[in-house]
Amino acid sequence: MSSIFRKKSINNISSDSAHGNGLSRVLTARDLTFFGIAAILGAGSFSSLGGAVFNGGPGVILLFVIVAIACGFTAFCYSEFASRIPIAGSAYTYAYVSFGELFAWIIGWALLMEYSIGNIYVAYSWSDYFTTLMSKCGWEISAHFSTSYMEAKKAFESGATSGEAITAWNNAPALGGLKIILDIPALVINLLITYLVYRGVKESKNFSNAMVILKMAVVTLIILVGGYLVFSNGLTHNWQPMNDAGVNSFMPNGFSGVMMAVSGVFFAYIGFDAVSVLAEESKNPQRDLPRGMIYSLVICTVVYILLTLVLTGAANYKSFEGIGDPLAFIFEPQNLNVGWMQFLVAICAVVAMTSVLLVFQMGQPRIWMSMSRDGLLPNKFQEIHPKYQTPGFSTILTGMVVGIPLLFTDKTFVLDFTSIGTLFAFVLVCGGVLLIPRRPKQEGKFHMPYINAQLIFPIMLIAAAVFLLLKFPTYTDEQGIAHSGYFADIFDFNFSGNEEYVNGKLSFMDLATVKIATIIFWLTCILLALLCFLKKYSLIPLLGLVSCLYLLTGMTKNNWAWFIGWLVLGLAVYFVYGKKHSKLNNN
Ligand code: ALA
Repeated sequence: MSSIFRKKSINNISSDSAHGNGLSRVLTARDLTFFGIAAILGAGSFSSLGGAVFNGGPGVILLFVIVAIACGFTAFCYSEFASRIPIAGSAYTYAYVSFGELFAWIIGWALLMEYSIGNIYVAYSWSDYFTTLMSKCGWEISAHFSTSYMEAKKAFESGATSGEAITAWNNAPALGGLKIILDIPALVINLLITYLVYRGVKESKNFSNAMVILKMAVVTLIILVGGYLVFSNGLTHNWQPMNDAGVNSFMPNGFSGVMMAVSGVFFAYIGFDAVSVLAEESKNPQRDLPRGMIYSLVICTVVYILLTLVLTGAANYKSFEGIGDPLAFIFEPQNLNVGWMQFLVAICAVVAMTSVLLVFQMGQPRIWMSMSRDGLLPNKFQEIHPKYQTPGFSTILTGMVVGIPLLFTDKTFVLDFTSIGTLFAFVLVCGGVLLIPRRPKQEGKFHMPYINAQLIFPIMLIAAAVFLLLKFPTYTDEQGIAHSGYFADIFDFNFSGNEEYVNGKLSFMDLATVKIATIIFWLTCILLALLCFLKKYSLIPLLGLVSCLYLLTGMTKNNWAWFIGWLVLGLAVYFVYGKKHSKLNNN
């Protein structure tokens, strides 16, 4: 069959993994849960939580719950696939079964953003905390050797007068007109992690488990010490802070303020799905992968909610403006004033992010390995190191894919790129579960409960529309429909056509993008409701699909432009190489 939509069959797919490789099966449900936590709890919570709280106030807890629900539905879908297809490959393999080869390739290509590009963001954040930690120990790393070139250049071009990035630009040595600015700690940690993963999963597993125990212990301490001080210092009024209009509210900037934090909050949850790429290293993947994903997601959701409560209780939400290390900030003298906690938090942040780097750096080679087995990538990608039993070539290549862009990208860019790519992958996984045939429950294996959405989904859709129209009368105004309507009250319009974020607010073009995306979202929901009525879809994957699509509507025009460019490049690679060499082509 030469069609680009040719599919792998679920029944035959497992036998592929028996060919020619020998990853050692050492991971238990507990290890997989630890891997999930290792991947989830990192830069998103330690770095971007400050900005989220500044925008949304204590109400950002609501967003953590909303995103957790979206990720929870998706985790169920991942679990359903993982229990049917217990081989490495993540969403890529799942798409091959349900949508066919072209979509599988697209997913594999998009996952590169989650795993490799996401790690670029984490490496930058790791470097920020590491630099702070070193400075607390009395060892200063020059700004031009701990900042990315692009960040420094952007600071210079925007006329910044203070901050580390402009210091880096002003003080950097030059070589033939080129300023020597590079983030050395980020580069070094990437090298170390690549080496560790290359040496083998067993060592990495032990290392990763130790880091997870340490970071959970410190996070628990932050919650206990911070929570105690919030109550004993009588600071609970911060949970109902006064906004600019003089009104006390849990959501001082309204729901629109909360929604502004969506990319950062979503990034904080990315990682539960990484568990699925370890299928071939788990002792009992069909039972343990779903457990690992769902347990880690639930634990992290509870941690995020408690952390946000402590954070927003310890200090007024407005004081988090521009704060990149919010968990250390709350223990500074002007807030809770606990010196030793600041130090501990900095250590914990470094540890937490190291474990995130480790998990993603392990995930990427395993996806490539699956793609190579299917013939979509050259054989080299599936080579297993004879001594260490790891995919050696793919591991080194991953190190390069993370390491080289560290020289010429910046945090904002990679954060957005990662979020859109991951959400896209989640959409396809949930859609995939809708399309695969139902199966009877089997003992000892995860089984997604079937709830007939035939009537429930259309009713939910109508109820949501009525609620929005009654509760948010501006919903159909300036921006047409959707949450862009809520945005109107706090975003300044910028009619200059500038497509970048303007002082942290969305530009006119971005609002237009949100509007178009939201209209498409509602039309898709109506179409899904009709299909659902005819085909009696299962409610859980349907809600996963819809909630992830909803989060995608928050992406800006630039995000879409880069993402589409990336997909076009991927398609070119597929048609030049993958289509011809696909195993299905040769069968
Ligand atoms: N969720 C991971 C983090 O926050 C990617 O670092």
